[in-house]
Amino acid sequence: MHVVYLSPGFPAEMPLFVRGLAAVGAKVLGVGDQPAGALPPEAREALSDYLQVSSFGDEQKVVQEVRQWLRGRSVDRVECLWERLMYLAATLREAFGLPGMSRAQTAIVRDKETMKQAVEQAGLRVPRHGRARSKAEAWAAVERCGYPAIVKPIDGAGSKDTYRCNDKQEFEQALQKVAHIDELSVEEFIEGEELTYDTVCADGRILFENVAWYKPKPMILAQNPWISMQNIVLRDITQELPRPGVELGHGVLKALGFRTGFTHMEWFRTPKGEAVFGEIGGRPPGARLVHAMNYSCDIDLFRGWAEAACYGRLSQDTRKKYNTAMIFKRAQGEGIVREHRGLRELLARYGNEVASIELTPIGEPKRDWRKVVVGDGWIVVRHPELSRALEVSERFVNDLLIVAG
Ligand SMILES: Nc1ncnc2c1ncn2[C@@H]1O[C@H](COP(=O)(O)OP(=O)(O)O)[C@@H](O)[C@H]1O
Ligand SMILES: [Mg+2]
Repeated sequence: MHVVYLSPGFPAEMPLFVRGLAAVGAKVLGVGDQPAGALPPEAREALSDYLQVSSFGDEQKVVQEVRQWLRGRSVDRVECLWERLMYLAATLREAFGLPGMSRAQTAIVRDKETMKQAVEQAGLRVPRHGRARSKAEAWAAVERCGYPAIVKPIDGAGSKDTYRCNDKQEFEQALQKVAHIDELSVEEFIEGEELTYDTVCADGRILFENVAWYKPKPMILAQNPWISMQNIVLRDITQELPRPGVELGHGVLKALGFRTGFTHMEWFRTPKGEAVFGEIGGRPPGARLVHAMNYSCDIDLFRGWAEAACYGRLSQDTRKKYNTAMIFKRAQGEGIVREHRGLRELLARYGNEVASIELTPIGEPKRDWRKVVVGDGWIVVRHPELSRALEVSERFVNDLLIVAG
């Protein structure tokens, strides 16, 4: 099994997937725009070969460079788990006649309007929505969607340039803020909780499924730098909270004809308990959610994905043992981290529930949470009972203060 893997060294979790591929016996041929010497060691050790391309910007040039480099060697897969290069991966597959997502299939998981149309056509609930390439189109779309409305980039990420608008005036203001974006998605704002539905699939079969609960909603987090985010992987997805999203997720995967790889869907649970589609990616979730899934089952899904992608199976025991809450801390104050206030007491009390903890060490500069997803701290707590996992997680949110100054 020979796998061409795009960007094995970046973003941060890619080396873990590359290592997973090598662990299941694949020969991994990395293609990146970094010099080989700049690759993280885990990636370098797992690669059988590496090509540094001049740039990822020109797809045809990349195809040419890869073709030349491969000359004489057979390839079975082209894999890419970084959203930004998913079209390039599809272009390479089409150029080399390989299985996996085509460009058209990629558009369904990259373009927020195309995906909602496909989901809606299957009779599933999506927010009222419209595509806008001009101000006039945006106004026409919001007329149809109504207020409160959401305006966001058609292919955004990380809640960037995403605004809730309660009325015409706020919509006008939002349009000014997103004036630099070529194409927008305008939507009805959905009230309620926000959760994920994630899978690893092979040949259209779901081999692993997962629901995580965002607290708070990502958009709120992006706008409030002081909040510690919690992301909770739920042990039992047949319970009332996750169940509507699991049912929706099954329908969505079928509607999109998704075949093989990771999927990451986001959905809203309205106060009435209805699941409404948010978006879906044909890739793993970021923000260390794969780590949280691993902690909830004591498995290695980096390797699990690799096995599914290469051989169509997932042979680890993926039964969930724990509700796993992940907390990201953002330091209060500016400058150098001076204190981990409350840490000793928390560990004395809840040490048994803590699976992992990494904080910005005292004496080091506070990190920029816009660039480093974990901010100034990453804590994983877990327990078979959801109420206990939530209780401990709340304590780390409220009673641990990373103090900078
Ligand atoms: N229709 C909507 N109703 C309510 N909240 C929304 C809606 N669309 C987006 N949001 C909020 O904005 C966030 C970012 O939007 P999303 O479509 O997930 O884009 P991305 O995650 O790619 O930035 C969501 O996680 C959610 O909190
Ligand atoms: Mg999202």
